[in-house]
Amino acid sequence: MKLSVDGINKTFFNNKVEHKVLENINIDIKEGEFVSLLGPSGCGKTTLLKIIGGFTKPDSGRILVEGKEVSKPGVDRAFIFQNYALFPWKTVKANVEFPMKQLGISKEEREKRLKYLLEMSHLEGKEKMYPNNLSGGMKQRVALIRALACNPQVLLMDEPLGAVDYQMRQNLQEELENIWLKNEITAVMVTHDVDEAIYMSDRVIVMSRDKGRIIENLNINLERPRDRESIQYNEYKKRLTQKLSECYIDGMVEGV
Ligand SMILES: Nc1ncnc2c1ncn2[C@@H]1O[C@H](COP(=O)(O)OP(=O)(O)OP(=O)(O)O)[C@@H](O)[C@H]1O
Ligand SMILES: [Mg+2]
Repeated sequence: MKLSVDGINKTFFNNKVEHKVLENINIDIKEGEFVSLLGPSGCGKTTLLKIIGGFTKPDSGRILVEGKEVSKPGVDRAFIFQNYALFPWKTVKANVEFPMKQLGISKEEREKRLKYLLEMSHLEGKEKMYPNNLSGGMKQRVALIRALACNPQVLLMDEPLGAVDYQMRQNLQEELENIWLKNEITAVMVTHDVDEAIYMSDRVIVMSRDKGRIIENLNINLERPRDRESIQYNEYKKRLTQKLSECYIDGMVEGV
């Protein structure tokens, strides 16, 4: 397995009140697999993703990358935060080069990668611009290529397309899919959007508010690129929408 979530438990204390967010979460992800985490607000998706990224410590359980335990952030796992987290005082070029500099990658190699990444994400000519002067979709693409700059094995994304409009969102889903296909990355994406999860993923995992319990683990067996109008696509959509609506009814979250 490329990535294993092994028996993760996490409890938070709010005003001394205990809140068990994740209980014994287990997920195995294959190399090159694209997995989406879907679930109602507050069910622990971000917490789980941050634990995988090494930003949050679990109370117990382990995260394994190729069988080796990891407990801190590392260049093997790139993280895209929902708000992009670009450096506003740095240009596009400087943003994308930043992690490469941190890793001590030579100027020549940095320029080569930058050129490839800008072309791939249709951001040529934008390298001297600052994030504030870019559209939401462009910022998203900069965050994506910055995350890809150090060739991560695993890409962790927390609602990466949350802030863009419907049409742009569909375009970016297609671009993100192409980028993922070209770079053979293992991806875990948190999303609220059933359509996005089905369009992008090899597998969709639905978490419930009941301690993050996994109530659906569904392989999406559709050829890529996916036809959003097809009957099978819409059957998946119906099934996941139904599953998700069950999460919102307290006490009705039964496992599968
Ligand atoms: N640092 C923290 N301290 C205390 N409680 C926290 C902390 N981080 C998260 N929580 C709580 O854990 C629960 C899960 O939060 P999390 O952010 O993982 O949810 P989520 O599934 O990502 O929700 P959303 O879809 O709204 O982003 C929430 O009840 C939240 O209040
Ligand atoms: Mg979240």
